[in-house]
Amino acid sequence: MNVGILGCGTIGGGVLKLIDDLPASRNIKVLKVFDLPSKKEMLGDRFAESIDEVCQNPEIDVVIEAMGGDKFPYECIVKALKNKKSVVTSNKETVSLHIDEFYALAKENGVSFMCEASVGGGIPLICSLIDSIKVNDVDRIYGIINGTTNFVLTKMEKEGLSMEDALNEAKRLGFAEFDATADIEGLDMTRKICILSSIAYGGYVPYSEIYHYGISKVTKEIFEDLKAKGFTLKFVAESRRTGEKSARVSVEPVAVTKDNPLSAVNYEFNSVYLNCSSNDLLGFYGKGAGRFPTATAMVSDVRRIMENAGTYYYENSGNFEVDNFLSSEKYYVYKDGKSEIVNGVKDVSSYDFVARIF
Ligand code: HSE
Repeated sequence: MNVGILGCGTIGGGVLKLIDDLPASRNIKVLKVFDLPSKKEMLGDRFAESIDEVCQNPEIDVVIEAMGGDKFPYECIVKALKNKKSVVTSNKETVSLHIDEFYALAKENGVSFMCEASVGGGIPLICSLIDSIKVNDVDRIYGIINGTTNFVLTKMEKEGLSMEDALNEAKRLGFAEFDATADIEGLDMTRKICILSSIAYGGYVPYSEIYHYGISKVTKEIFEDLKAKGFTLKFVAESRRTGEKSARVSVEPVAVTKDNPLSAVNYEFNSVYLNCSSNDLLGFYGKGAGRFPTATAMVSDVRRIMENAGTYYYENSGNFEVDNFLSSEKYYVYKDGKSEIVNGVKDVSSYDFVARIF
């Protein structure tokens, strides 16, 4: 199987190395890599001057998109699919906005659209979700699906680092988004829970309607106060189906007690649970960010395409309504050095910090 890669940064470079290191018997080869001219020397003959050398190359079967962002990657994915190339992407930003169109184009052109690496890094999560919905309903998905913020919270809590220092380390290790605000304010998890929910429910859960708030205001004092009350702080996404065409979807900091398995998920690890109608609770755990875990998920997608296991097409049966959730849960609220537990919150911004009791 011949592959072309768009973007040779942390993730795309990881994919290139993993494929180059595979034994020849695995039959996967990278023919072309598109990136900035500064990568030309390193890539030699395989450097592609334009995306057309990848997306329209008659010798390439699979296009691996690892660039990040929306507009340009969107155009590249559409071009590749229309040219009957299967696409593998790790790009949650563009997938969360165009998932309907990408799957529809793949189906129309008889190729695969695969986005395992867009959620949960190296965890084989989307393929397991797709397997699950073939035999039972999945009506709740929850967990930690951002490695950077889990890393930051763990570093702050267990090693006493400041948020700034912890985030700088996450950036250095290649976990964070290009603009790390997407991690800290919950946009990245919002994109990921949009993708998981849409696939699980067979209907698009609009990304722009998912209410989220982040962890930028968490301090050492808040960690200490939570600890004194028996809690650990985690940043969690949850999607719960509430009706035929509605779901309660949230991305928010949560306070968990020690007996909640999420409290033991540390550093860049992710953990996700699926509530299945006949298979009960399914749990997943693994590295949710980082070069090789994410690259592994992408190479696994290429293998699935080779083995004809990439022929699932999500079809939107109608958009979902997303319920507002703030009024219906118990919250830990912190203001001016004091905290209390309240039923429902009207406005997160009227406190110094808010976390749902999970
Ligand atoms: N910034 C993301 C994270 C990368 O930390 O989870 C993987 O999607």
